[in-house]
Amino acid sequence: MYGGPNRCFAAWWPRDFITMTARPRHDTDWPCCARRRACHTDGVGLYADQILPRAINLALRGGEFAGPRARAAGGLDGEVLEIGFGSGLNIPYYPAGLKRVQAVDPAAAGRRLAAGRAASCTVSIEYVGTDAEALPVADASVDHVLSTWTLCTIPDAMRALGEVRRVLRPGGAFRFVEHGLAPDQSVARLQQLLTPVQRRAFGGCHLDRRIDQLVAAAGLELTRLDTYYMKGPRALGYTFEGVAIRP
Ligand SMILES: C[S@@+](CC[C@H](N)C(=O)[O-])C[C@H]1O[C@@H](n2cnc3c(N)ncnc32)[C@H](O)[C@@H]1O
Repeated sequence: MYGGPNRCFAAWWPRDFITMTARPRHDTDWPCCARRRACHTDGVGLYADQILPRAINLALRGGEFAGPRARAAGGLDGEVLEIGFGSGLNIPYYPAGLKRVQAVDPAAAGRRLAAGRAASCTVSIEYVGTDAEALPVADASVDHVLSTWTLCTIPDAMRALGEVRRVLRPGGAFRFVEHGLAPDQSVARLQQLLTPVQRRAFGGCHLDRRIDQLVAAAGLELTRLDTYYMKGPRALGYTFEGVAIRP
C-alpha cells in the first residue's frame, strides 16, 4: 500500500499539502522508514512548525494541567534536562532555587512562545538540542530529566528513553507526565483506531503507548506511578504520572 519496504510512505504525501500539514516523520512503526538517514521525511511543514506549537500552547496551559505539572517539576534540583520543552509551560512550576535547565525541542515556534515565560523566571534556560533521540549531553551528567506530554510524540520513544537513561547519573530521576494506552479495552481499542489519524493531525502524537512499560524497558526503575483519566475524552486523557530512577 505504501510502496513496499524500500519506498517511504511520505513520498505519497501530496507536495503542496506538505507545507500545510505535519509531514510524516521517521518512525520505527513504519518499515519504509528503517533507512532513517536516507529517508526524506525529516523536516516539518508550516502546520507542524508554526501552527501546532501555538495550538499546543493553548491546549496544554489549562488549569487541569497545573497539578500534574507542579508535581512533576516540584522535585527538580541540580542539573535538569527537559525534553519536549515546547512553549515552556513547565517554567512557572520550576522550584525556586533551580539554577539551570537544559532544554530540547525541535519546534522553533515553541521557543519563541517560551521566551516570555523564560524572561520572567530566574532559571537560566539553555537550548541544547532538538531531538531527544540523540541528546548532545554527556553520560551521567544530569540529576533530573523532565518530560510532560512528550513521549507520545517522539518518533522512537524507546530510543529517547535510552538517551534519558544514558544522561542521568546513577540515582538520578526521570520525572514524567504522559498520556498513553488505557487499560480499559473499549478505550484502548478506540485509541488504537484513532492513533493513525492523531499522528497525522497532531505532529506524530500516539494515543496507544504504554508509557510505564517503555520506561521500565529502558532500564529505569519506577519508584512512583499514578495513572488516571484527565477530564475530557478518555482516549486522549489516560495519564501516566511518575518518577523512575536510573539504577
Ligand atoms: C504535546 S507537546 C508538549 C510540550 C510540553 N512538554 C508541555 O508539557 O507543554 C510535545 C512536544 O514534543 C516536542 N517533540 C517532538 N519530537 C521531539 C523530539 N524528537 N525530541 C524532543 N522533543 C520533541 C514537540 O515539538 C512538542 O513541543
